Amino acid sequence: AGLEQFVRSLPKAELHLHIEGTLEPELIFELAARNGVALPYASVQALRDAYQFTDLQSFLDLYYAGAGVLLTERDFYDMTMAYLRRARSEGVVHAEIMFDPQTHTARGVAIEAVFAGIARALREMRDTAGMSGCLLMSFLRHLSEQDAVDTLDAALPLRTQYADVWTGIGLDSGERGNPPEKFRRVYARCRELGFRLVAHAGEEGPAAYVQDALDMLHVERIDHGVHSEDDPALTQRLREQRTPLTVCPLSNLKLCVVDSLDKHNLARLLRQGLCITINSDDPAYFGGYLLDNYLASAQALGLSRAELATLAENSLQASFLPAARKQELV
Ligand code: HPA
Ligand code: ZN
Repeated sequence: AGLEQFVRSLPKAELHLHIEGTLEPELIFELAARNGVALPYASVQALRDAYQFTDLQSFLDLYYAGAGVLLTERDFYDMTMAYLRRARSEGVVHAEIMFDPQTHTARGVAIEAVFAGIARALREMRDTAGMSGCLLMSFLRHLSEQDAVDTLDAALPLRTQYADVWTGIGLDSGERGNPPEKFRRVYARCRELGFRLVAHAGEEGPAAYVQDALDMLHVERIDHGVHSEDDPALTQRLREQRTPLTVCPLSNLKLCVVDSLDKHNLARLLRQGLCITINSDDPAYFGGYLLDNYLASAQALGLSRAELATLAENSLQASFLPAARKQELV
């Protein structure tokens, strides 16, 4: 309880969070009933029992199916508010939220409804609770680059309206066989447009994908990046450049990226001086929100209080907040 209170009280940013991955089974059932969507599970418990993953793809199949209950602006608002309230209660002062418009537009949901619902929740928490947040619109890498371009074109007319929250661009979904190179041109365009850039790399994919995300996509942070350690020169570069890695320990455990948490390399990388941050990825599916990720890592890896404080400070430093607000928060 002492350590839990200590971690809760540290001001923290969450930098790697898929909002569709915060949809709890209870809310999936509630939205299914509200929207008249049939679910292939008899109960909340039956759905939760299905959350046993062997790799990234086995999770993605359920995650995209779960998102099928999201139809209206209100659904996106309800989902985002539930996450933000929970995060706030754990001492998250700033959340950078990824969302996958292609998962929704492919089902006939208007991209306007997706932006509007998520942004309404972010603005409400900012105005009523002083918690900040922003959006990283993410492309699905198993789809074509042209599909990403079309998504960007559909979203750009909304940019002015959401200028206070829409900060950047991300890249997620199945990594193997979908290298950064595939999205080189659309990232170049996003860069010219002035978006902040991140991409998943080195989760299931090799260290070379991390290097390519840096050199070909010009991202500022790497989501996951745990396989960077396979390449010593890359690891040294990440340390020297202080490139943040948004590591997600419970996700890595549930998706069998690591066999057990005590074998996770985040503590070793942190102790070598890399800018490591701890994040929750898809907390409704992986059995823990941000606080649980910090505490489980502390327990398995023997992280000291000073190291936990460094991880929290890294999260604020690695965020896309303006320098002045970072200073206020750390
Ligand atoms: N990796 C890739 N795609 C994802 C993830 C992840 O951890 N979570 C949601 N989409
Ligand atoms: Zn992720």
